[in-house]
Amino acid sequence: MTFVVNGRRHDVRPRPGQCLRTFLRELGCFGVKKGCDAGDCGACTVMVDGDPVHSCLFPAYRAEGRAVTTIEGLARNGELHPMQQAFLQAQGFQCGFCTPGMIMTAASLNQSQLQDLPWALKGNICRCTGYGAIENAIRGVRAVEHAQAGDAVGRSVPAPAARAVISGAARYTMDFAPPGLLHLKLLRSPHAHARIKSIGKEEALALPGVRAVLTFEDAPRKFYSSARHEIESGDPDDTALLDRIVRFVGQRVAAVVADSEAAAEAGCRKLEVDYEPLPAVFDAEEAMRPGAPAIHGDKGPEARIRDPVRNIAGEVHGDVGNVQTGFAEADVIYEGTYVTQRVQHAHLETHCAMGWLDEAGRLTIRASSQTPFLTRRALAGLFDLDLAKVRVFCERMGGGFGAKQEMLVEDIVALAVLKTGRPVKLEFTREEQFTGSTTRHPMRVRIKVGARRDGRLTAMQMHVVSNTGAYGNHGPAVLFHACSECFGVYRCANKKLDGYAVYTNTVPAGAFRGYGLPQTNFAVESAMDELARKLGIDPIEFRLRNVVRPGDPMISVGSEEGHDVEYGSYGLDQCLSLVKDAIERNGGLPPPPSDDWLVGQGMALGMIDTAPPFGHIAEVSAALREDGTFEIAIGTAEFGNGTTTVHYQIAASVLGTTPDGIRVRSSDTDNGGHDTGAYGSTGTVVAGRATELACAALREKILSFAAAQASGPQAAWSLADGAAVRAARRIELAELAAAARAKGVSLAASGRWDGTPRSVAFNVQAFRLAVNKRNGAIKILRSVHAADAGRVINPMQCRGQVEGGVAQSLGAALYEEMAIDENGRVTNSNFRNYHLPQFGDVPRTEVFFADTSDTLGPFGAKSMSESPYNPINAAIGNALYDATGIRFCQTPFKPDRIFAAIARKFGTVE
Ligand code: FES
Ligand code: FES
Repeated sequence: MTFVVNGRRHDVRPRPGQCLRTFLRELGCFGVKKGCDAGDCGACTVMVDGDPVHSCLFPAYRAEGRAVTTIEGLARNGELHPMQQAFLQAQGFQCGFCTPGMIMTAASLNQSQLQDLPWALKGNICRCTGYGAIENAIRGVRAVEHAQAGDAVGRSVPAPAARAVISGAARYTMDFAPPGLLHLKLLRSPHAHARIKSIGKEEALALPGVRAVLTFEDAPRKFYSSARHEIESGDPDDTALLDRIVRFVGQRVAAVVADSEAAAEAGCRKLEVDYEPLPAVFDAEEAMRPGAPAIHGDKGPEARIRDPVRNIAGEVHGDVGNVQTGFAEADVIYEGTYVTQRVQHAHLETHCAMGWLDEAGRLTIRASSQTPFLTRRALAGLFDLDLAKVRVFCERMGGGFGAKQEMLVEDIVALAVLKTGRPVKLEFTREEQFTGSTTRHPMRVRIKVGARRDGRLTAMQMHVVSNTGAYGNHGPAVLFHACSECFGVYRCANKKLDGYAVYTNTVPAGAFRGYGLPQTNFAVESAMDELARKLGIDPIEFRLRNVVRPGDPMISVGSEEGHDVEYGSYGLDQCLSLVKDAIERNGGLPPPPSDDWLVGQGMALGMIDTAPPFGHIAEVSAALREDGTFEIAIGTAEFGNGTTTVHYQIAASVLGTTPDGIRVRSSDTDNGGHDTGAYGSTGTVVAGRATELACAALREKILSFAAAQASGPQAAWSLADGAAVRAARRIELAELAAAARAKGVSLAASGRWDGTPRSVAFNVQAFRLAVNKRNGAIKILRSVHAADAGRVINPMQCRGQVEGGVAQSLGAALYEEMAIDENGRVTNSNFRNYHLPQFGDVPRTEVFFADTSDTLGPFGAKSMSESPYNPINAAIGNALYDATGIRFCQTPFKPDRIFAAIARKFGTVE
C-alpha cells in the first residue's frame, strides 16, 4: 500500500484489521495518541486529505493513495502552523496528551465552525484544562509572558516543554520501543469473589508468539499495598501481585507475555481458569454487618487491616467538647445524609509502564507514575532486590489526578522482565482503566449541625462510610483526610466524628484529586447552607461568622498533639469577599429565561492543608554548569500540573537568571536524593521549597567563590544575568565555573524540605444556574472561584489548575458515575457511556486570587492543584436548592433525578 505521511511517501502494508492510529505510530508518529481507541476522545486525530479523522476508527488500508498529516507534519519549513503558535501563546494545555489531536481538529476548522466551538470540538476531550485555555488559544489570546533575569516568579512564563508538546515531539511513557519489546496482557476475573483452584496455561503457551504465562505460582508470595506513601504503615498490606483469591470483577488473574499485543490477547483467551465462586458483598454498610462475607478474612494482623471480620480497612473517631451539650444549646439543627458516587480519574494517558534490564543488569522501569522513588522502593522490596539494582524514571505523563500514586502496572511488568529477561510493556486499555485501576471513594455521610440564633455554630457531628472497594490502598488515609479540613475550617466548640473505610467486592478506590474532601465537603457545606437559610442569614455572612481565623485551632479529630498545620497565611476572608463582590457585580439573580426555568445561586468553601501529614520529602541538587547555566535535579514528577515550570521559575529567581538559564532533570531515581512524589499538591510547596533551598545554597557558594577570586567580602556580591557582580565588577559564571574546576572547588549544592510544618490554602466557589422544570437540565449561568494560593508563582498556570479542577469536579457533580451491576461488574467502562465534560459542557469560570504571601511556602506560595475541585458539588447543590427549594443529597445531579424531584414538588409541566 502506498500513501503519503507528512509529505513523505511510504510503501508499507498494514496488518489485517489494523487501524491508522497504530499504523502511524509504528512509522514513528508518536504524536498520534491513544486515549480510548473507540472514537470518543480525539487524542488520535490526524488529517486525511485535509479532513480531521479519529485514526483509531480509520482502517489503515483506507489511507491508500491519500495524504495523511499528523501533528509532526503540521509545521512547514520549520515554521509552526498558526494554530500551533496559538496554543503556544495561550498555553492551551496542561499534560498535553490531548493537545496534538486538539490542534489537528482546531487547525482544520473553517470560519463558520470557529463560531460554534462546542459543536466543532465535540470529538476532542481534554481532562486537564477545563477548555478555557484551549478556547483562548483558538481565539488568539496571548497568555504567556517572558521573564527578565531574576524576576520569573510571579510571571506567566511558558512551560519549558511547550514547544515539544504542541509539535508532537514530547515523549510520553509509551512513545518508545526498545528492540525486542514484548507485550503484556492481563486476564481479569469475571467473578466478584472467587478462589482460583487452578490455571491451565498449556494451550496459551503453545500459541505462536507467546513467550510466558505468569500466574500466582510465579509471583512473590508477599502482601503489600498498591498505594504509595512515604510512610507505608498506614496502608493495609492486603494486595498480592497475582493472588489465589480474586475480590472484584476485573482483578488480575494471570498475565501473558508475547511478541505482539494480539498474541498476548490470544494467549489470555486460551487460559483455562477453574474458579470456586465465593459470596460477595457490594454495599459498604451491608459489608459491616455481622454475617457479611469477610473479604480479607484470610489475613492476619501483619496486614494491618483494622477489622477483617467486619470488612473495616480503617476507622477514625474523635471528638472535641461535647456534641450533646452543643446540640442542646442550638436554636436550629439540621440533619441530612449525603451520598457521593464512584467516579474515574479519566486521565487521557492510561496506566502504562515499560521495563527492561539495562546493560548492568539493573531492573529499569519507564513508568507513568507520580511516585518513581516510592515505586522503586516497593519493587526492590517485592523482588528482594538491592535498591541500587532498580531504576524507575518517568518521561512526560498524560495526567494522573492521584491515580498514578498507585503501583498498578510496574509490579507485573517487573515480574515479566525478570522472568523473560526481555523488555516488556503494559498499557491499559480504556476499559481496563475503568475495571482494573482505581476510582474515587464513594461515600455515605450523615451530617448533623446546630447553631444559635446569632448564627454561631454550637455543634457539628459527622458519620462517614467510605467504600474502599476490594483493597484498602489509600482507604484509611483518604478517610482520615475526608474527616479533617472540612470540619477543621469551622470554629465550633463541640465536634464529633466517626468514619469507616469499608471493603466491598467492587473495583478498588484510591487516591483522587481532593483525597476524600470533595465527598465530605458536599455534606458539610450543604449543611451550612441549610443552617444559614433556617436562620435567614446570607450564606457568605454565615461562613464569615463561623470560619476559623488565625490563632484558632484547626483540629477536627483527636488532639492537637503532632498537628503541624499553621497559618502560614490566611486569605479565606478575602476569598469570600472576592466571590461575593464578583457574583453581585452584575446585580441580583437574572430572571429565568422562560417559565420552564428556575434560577438560583449557591456557594461553598474549602480549606486544604498544603501538604499531606507525617512528612513529604524532597531532595534537590543544583549545580553551576561549565557554560554558566545551571542544572537542577529534582525527584518529583510532572504530570501536567505545571510543577516543572514552577521549579524553573524558582531556580531562575534565586539564581538571578531567566528560565532559559536553567536545565532541569526530574523524576528519575538515578538523579540521586529522594522524593516522596507528586501528590498531595506538594510539587510547589515541598519540592519547590527544596529547589529554593538548593539554589540559595548554590548561590552562596558561587558568591563566596567569586568574592575569594576577587579578594573581597562576599556580602557585596550578587548574581545577575549569568554573572557574579559587585558594583561595576562582573565575573561571568562560565569563567567562575572554569576557575572552580581548575581549583577543584565544587559549585554544587543541595536542598531538602520535609514538608513540615504545613500551611492552609482556601477556595470559595459560587454558581448561578437555571434548572429546567420540563426535563431537569441544568444550565450554569455564572461560575466564580476565588483561591488563596499565597503568592501565585505562575498566574496563567494556577488559573489553569483552578479552571481544570472546577471542570473535572463539575463532571462528577453533574453526570459522571461508574455504574456497577448486581454482580459487581462495571457496565459503562468507556468514555461514550461514562460522559466526561466536553467543551460545550463547561462554563468559563471567573478566577480571582487572594492577595496573601505564605511564610512557609517557597516565595510565599501555597498549593493549588487539588483544592479547586473540593467545593464544587456543594456549591451546585446549594444553587439547586436556591432555585428549586429541593435539597438534592446525592451526586451526580443528573437530569432524571432533578426532574423526578421537581415533578414531585411542582407537578409535571404541561
Ligand atoms: S484514541 Fe481515537 S478517539 Fe480516542
Ligand atoms: S491537557 Fe488535555 S488531557 Fe491533559
